[in-house]
Amino acid sequence: MDKLMITGGEPLRGEVRISGAKNSALPILAATLLASEPVTVCNLPHLHDITTMLELLRRMGVELVIDEKLNVEIDAGTIKQLVAPYELVKTMRASILVLGPMVAHFGEAEVSLPGGCAIGSRPVDLHIQGLRAMGADVVVEAGYIRAKSNGRLKGARIFFDTVTVTGTENILMAATLAEGQSIIENAAREPEVVDLAECLIAMGADISGHGTDTITVNGVEKLHGCKFPVVADRIETGTYLTAVAATRGKIKVKNTNPRILDAVLQKLEEAGAHITTGDDWIELDMKGQRPKAINITTAPYPAFPTDMQAQFSAMNAVSEGVSILKETIFENRFMHMQEMIRMGAKINIDANTAVVEGVERLQAAPVMATDLRASASLVIAALVADGDTVIDRIYHIDRGYECIEEKLQLLGARIKRIPG
Ligand code: EPZ
Repeated sequence: MDKLMITGGEPLRGEVRISGAKNSALPILAATLLASEPVTVCNLPHLHDITTMLELLRRMGVELVIDEKLNVEIDAGTIKQLVAPYELVKTMRASILVLGPMVAHFGEAEVSLPGGCAIGSRPVDLHIQGLRAMGADVVVEAGYIRAKSNGRLKGARIFFDTVTVTGTENILMAATLAEGQSIIENAAREPEVVDLAECLIAMGADISGHGTDTITVNGVEKLHGCKFPVVADRIETGTYLTAVAATRGKIKVKNTNPRILDAVLQKLEEAGAHITTGDDWIELDMKGQRPKAINITTAPYPAFPTDMQAQFSAMNAVSEGVSILKETIFENRFMHMQEMIRMGAKINIDANTAVVEGVERLQAAPVMATDLRASASLVIAALVADGDTVIDRIYHIDRGYECIEEKLQLLGARIKRIPG
């Protein structure tokens, strides 16, 4: 397994271009299964999860044409088998996103239950409840979700008692081809849900209310093709901003969207960062100052994103003061903190609350990544540690961060990949 070796101590300075959002690209690639004509998806990030989703579609017999910029044209008309096999789904939970489109367009689907993962049990009961409400016959047996619909799905009113991003996305996609109107209540408001809705509208879907907690969909008979660029990755953006803040540096982040991470920018300003923004860029300057400790509580968008909690815990580990981090979305998303404690961080964990007492600097140590965002937080911790930190199991990081060594090297980081 590859490892990353990072020599900490340098403030990061420079410019970074942000890639397309993984969590927008994945539902949009699944949405191509709804169309009766080819759909071209642009600005896809070069990530392992994207490759996995493309492999899943290809295995189902969908024709893909990929150009040198990784823009991909997908024609679902050639689909041969309506199965998402375990060996692919177990490597990427987001494979569940093909369930709704397959049932809605082809009348049936067989999708492996995604296993739990490091950060929690992550059930998909709400996805299944939503499809059943639309008239699908869904059976869960032998580790597979088997769904069938006798003719078109029926529009329905669906209330999510927990805000679920991919649950909202699955039902939104299914509703676009259902007969009649669907109303999705307590819907996720994440920018990636909005991006998916905009892509579906470009394919001819009749959707309104996306970005609010109530989405209305009037089903149509069929969806046509389109060419759609995925939105910039707000979590990648926040990760680089937080890394630079922790190292007391200065950065200009380009090809991004400053309007979809208000909660993160506000918290960074609280930590003492000087932030200016333009239409597609954000500049952060710490003016050489040590960040101040800041409290965060994760919650669904537009509140502070759970996908930024680990990165902020790394910054708080070397901030001035004591901070409290509350994780309200997942039941086990503090594993990175045990690794940081081995680097000298002062953290006390009680259930879903962590109290962090900032220290001036961390100490390098061999550490292990446990999930995607945890691995990003260990990179940040290594950047503010004295000595050479080696991070193992960095396949996690390759799932969600395009060319992370190259982008950090551009910022002056001393980082290299050790092939394992
Ligand atoms: C999406 O996961 C993201 N993944 C996650 O990003 C992100 O952390 C999460 O939303 C929360 O923002 C993608 O978009 C591909 P949820 P998702 O359904 O949809 C419970 C990353 O790092 N729940 O919004 O799987 C669930 O247990 C990844 O890029 C049910 O109970 O998350 C959790 O407590 C990690 N039943 C809460 O809802 C269900 O049927 C929110 O989960 C579905 C979810």
